[in-house]
Amino acid sequence: MSKTASFKPIRKAVFPVAGLGTRFLPATKSIPKEMLPVVDKPILQYAVEEAKKAGIEHFVFVTGRGKTVIEDHFDIAYELEQTLEQRQKTDVLDRLRSDLPEAGQISYTRQQSPLGLGHAVWCARDIIGNEPFALLLPDMLMKSDTPCLKNMMDLYAEKGGNIISVEECAPEDASKYGIVQFETESDGAMKITDMVEKPAPGTAPSNFFINGRYILQPEVFDLLGEKKRGAGNEIQITDAMLRLIKDQEFHAVTFTGQTFDCGSRLGFLQANLAYSLDDSDLRPQIQKMLENLNDENQPQKRHAAAS
Ligand code: G1P
Repeated sequence: MSKTASFKPIRKAVFPVAGLGTRFLPATKSIPKEMLPVVDKPILQYAVEEAKKAGIEHFVFVTGRGKTVIEDHFDIAYELEQTLEQRQKTDVLDRLRSDLPEAGQISYTRQQSPLGLGHAVWCARDIIGNEPFALLLPDMLMKSDTPCLKNMMDLYAEKGGNIISVEECAPEDASKYGIVQFETESDGAMKITDMVEKPAPGTAPSNFFINGRYILQPEVFDLLGEKKRGAGNEIQITDAMLRLIKDQEFHAVTFTGQTFDCGSRLGFLQANLAYSLDDSDLRPQIQKMLENLNDENQPQKRHAAAS
């Protein structure tokens, strides 16, 4: 029997999508920030596709007021489909249909009050039940050939326990994130020994930050249920994990693709640029536009690119 057979499979993923998106006002006054498009897909759909490719079967959204269009997005739009059919727009129709999770594969619950990420995750406890699960923060858009969560699943199959995706940041940025400290095991795996949420400047134990992808054991819900407040007076998932580390193993996977923090305007714009350069139709024109923008000596061209 293989070593991997003893670990419970990761079937469900939690997506916290209750945030207000204040950094994107007025765009997010009536549109959830998770529905803002990166090229032609909502930010949230990238995370759902990543989870799907990693083998996730059930998608749990922790939403809040004003987020009902998320439910509509992941549902069949009969009138739209009929119109597309009549107009023989089969390509786009096929795409819409293949994007949809199957009936019964999605659950929604509401966070009710903005008490922090840990609280949002805790709201999913009954839907997850007593099994390990994935947690994806959709704001963090992870661009790579192999989905970030898939690499984490592979390590989980070897190690079990809890797995966190990390990457290196500039030392001055460490105070914006959850930071991990780790030791290297004989097989090269990174075993996490400490974590801190948003360390005060200059106090971070390393430059490896938690970039928004987790595989967690269900015992984390009991700790989150104690509702202890941490950084920013919020209930933090990092604090619950730090307490769980006393009883369970946590390993890290270093993400080697590109991460875009779409919760910030700059990250969102960078993501749009990076994904548009991947699109064969858009790429030549975007490249031309960038060349023109760079070319200080050609103001006329610059004007043309911007119009
Ligand atoms: C959350 C987590 C933090 C992590 C970050 C990644 O923080 O608490 O550990 O590094 O996401 O984006 P937030 O961005 O909600 O402040």
